[in-house]
Amino acid sequence: MRLLVTGGAGFIGSNFVHHIIARSDHSVTVLDKLTYAGTLASLEGLPESRFRFVRGDIADAPLVDELFAEHDAVVHFAAESHNDNSLDDPRPFLDTNIIGTFTLLEAARRHGTRFHHISTDEVYGDLELDDPARFTETTPYNPSSPYSSTKAGSDLLVRAWVRSFDLPATLSNCSNNYGPYQHVEKFIPRQITNVLRGERPKLYGSGENVRDWIHADDHSAAVLTILEQGRIGETYLIGADGEQSNKAVVELILTELGQPADAYDHVVDRPGHDLRYAIDSTKLRTELDWSPRFHDFEAGLAQTIAWYREHEGWWAPAKDATESRYRAQGQ
Ligand code: NAD
Ligand code: DAU
Repeated sequence: MRLLVTGGAGFIGSNFVHHIIARSDHSVTVLDKLTYAGTLASLEGLPESRFRFVRGDIADAPLVDELFAEHDAVVHFAAESHNDNSLDDPRPFLDTNIIGTFTLLEAARRHGTRFHHISTDEVYGDLELDDPARFTETTPYNPSSPYSSTKAGSDLLVRAWVRSFDLPATLSNCSNNYGPYQHVEKFIPRQITNVLRGERPKLYGSGENVRDWIHADDHSAAVLTILEQGRIGETYLIGADGEQSNKAVVELILTELGQPADAYDHVVDRPGHDLRYAIDSTKLRTELDWSPRFHDFEAGLAQTIAWYREHEGWWAPAKDATESRYRAQGQ
């Protein structure tokens, strides 16, 4: 297939492009605006015969239409993705996550293009720490932040285009990803790079909040499986049974980097901070026979720490600006 990958210069999109080139015969065109979150440095070393990059906005209808005419399928990662930014300035989240997705859907409708929409478990809201339940494909939507509400809105648009216009689309909602190429504004890279720079990790509030971690390469494999074998119109939850409290993650990072496990600071909490996410990925595992390769979170985290240690040139350019933004918010 000739795949168009939106947001392919970001964290998960670039991991997906590397995965596709290594594990399939598909060719890839990346459409990416290169916002603060995207960089061509994440796409270095890809073969010219199977990879092309186009800089542009997913809300640019003429450009999108031209690209859809040349591709068999679209995997839509592009988004404003950071909750903290959405609390500071929600507008770009509406422009990209809602209007951008709408623009892509209209092009897909015109060209009859196979469409896979990438979304998040945050559309389901949050769970209590002691709740035995996990999110499933039938959990009601209940998003908390401007980010997650725009992702929920984009999911509903995709579902409406399937039902109303027979769009050949699938959706996936994944839990928190970790791995190489993640921007230093996000939790795990922020704490790793703080320690590498001799600064202390910063935990929002009590640090008891729980996230369900999955390696970005496992997310990529799941998306490829859904793209090739998923049932049209269906939603699949993607998760790897990786629940950890934020405090536990910070302690693991400090220990791996040879620091005392309690050498972190508590800082101002995120307003409306979701307490816990947890994914039940039974449908994907039983229907499409997918399972994660990274079973051991501690080992995957150690590999990720090693990557950041070896790639300071990749993350250093964004670090100062990110930290001064956090400092201004007391975080
Ligand atoms: P990211 O912020 O690292 O990357 C987003 C990419 O999209 C960047 O390269 C950026 O330049 C590009 N982009 C932004 N606006 C654009 C526009 N208008 N037109 C074209 N390109 C644009 O995000 P990520 O963490 O890689 O997330 C990718 C997708 O996965 C998002 O849809 C997100 O909601 C979803 N998701 C993320 C996680 C996670 O843990 N990070 C988990 C589940 C789902
Ligand atoms: O669940 C999937 C979602 O995971 C994706 O949809 C989002 O795009 C992605 O950013 C992520 O959202 P979170 O808000 O969970 O990720 P973040 O890395 O911002 O924070 C993870 C947890 O760590 C959260 O509980 C907030 C906390 N945190 C974050 C930062 C940046 C800290 O305690 N300290 C920090 O410095």
